[in-house]
Amino acid sequence: MKTVNELFDFSGKVIIITGGAGAIGSAAARRFASLGANVVISDINQEKLDELAADIEKESAHATLGFKADSTVEAELQALVDATIGKFGKISGLINNVGWGAATPLWESDTDKMVKSYLLNTVGAYNLTKMCMPYLKKELNASVVFSGSMVGVTPSPEFIEYSTAKAGLLNMVHSMAVMSGPEVRFNSLIIGSVDNGAATLAAGYDPAMLQRLSDAMVLKRRGEPEDIANAFMFLMSGAASWITGIDLKVDGGGMYTSKMPKK
Ligand SMILES: NC(=O)c1ccc[n+]([C@@H]2O[C@H](COP(=O)([O-])OP(=O)(O)OC[C@H]3O[C@@H](n4cnc5c(N)ncnc54)[C@H](O)[C@@H]3O)[C@@H](O)[C@H]2O)c1
Repeated sequence: MKTVNELFDFSGKVIIITGGAGAIGSAAARRFASLGANVVISDINQEKLDELAADIEKESAHATLGFKADSTVEAELQALVDATIGKFGKISGLINNVGWGAATPLWESDTDKMVKSYLLNTVGAYNLTKMCMPYLKKELNASVVFSGSMVGVTPSPEFIEYSTAKAGLLNMVHSMAVMSGPEVRFNSLIIGSVDNGAATLAAGYDPAMLQRLSDAMVLKRRGEPEDIANAFMFLMSGAASWITGIDLKVDGGGMYTSKMPKK
């Protein structure tokens, strides 16, 4: 039987993380680097990428690549894959984490907003995964994990573009899972409300609303980015080598009890 240390040893693995400069992406990058991986963090925020890549290299002593790429632009995703192969020669795992959603009431969206959300939350993940597949197939226990959302599962008419795109993401991952075994495993997280600092406040939620949201959760707090990083770690690890096609809820028990409160 393998030891726990062996199951969670990521030495020699090369893991791409999109949205890598954000709250959840950067926690995931630090987690995997601390377990021995070379992480490739991709984002549109060059400044944060540079800062984070330098920090991770210092903390973990593992080579790290920060690569600016817009996940909605195919050519930039291909450049990300090429740069990863150029620097590390392989891709062992992928975390399709990039995503974002504005609050839009049910009947106030339009074609442009719906399509933009779909491109960012769903199509970008499809394109990058397709580009990585030839490399993933060569690796032992290759794994791809996606950042889904609670709002993609429960009716969420106040986030109509985002919730529709995240719902599509889950179905897409199921299709990938049934077609891609045994070489590559595909799983999603269904993420509940996580503290991502300024991003939530910028979307219009004030601290009192967020407190009401925490109070409505079974575990009485919003998630920390590290809570999500730990779930990524499990699904990417040897401990999950017989798990594919699942949607793992990481939501503080909030899916059935909490809803983003109104002002
Ligand atoms: N925080 C939550 O409460 C929550 C809940 C459910 C699901 N999620 C999902 O988790 C994932 C990460 O969320 P987070 O809270 O860390 O968000 P965040 O806003 O902190 O990070 C998102 C990152 O994505 C980057 N980004 C935005 N558009 C991009 C693009 N076109 N190309 C490349 N990068 C781009 C941003 O620069 C940012 O660094 C997202 O998919 C989100 O939908 C988050």
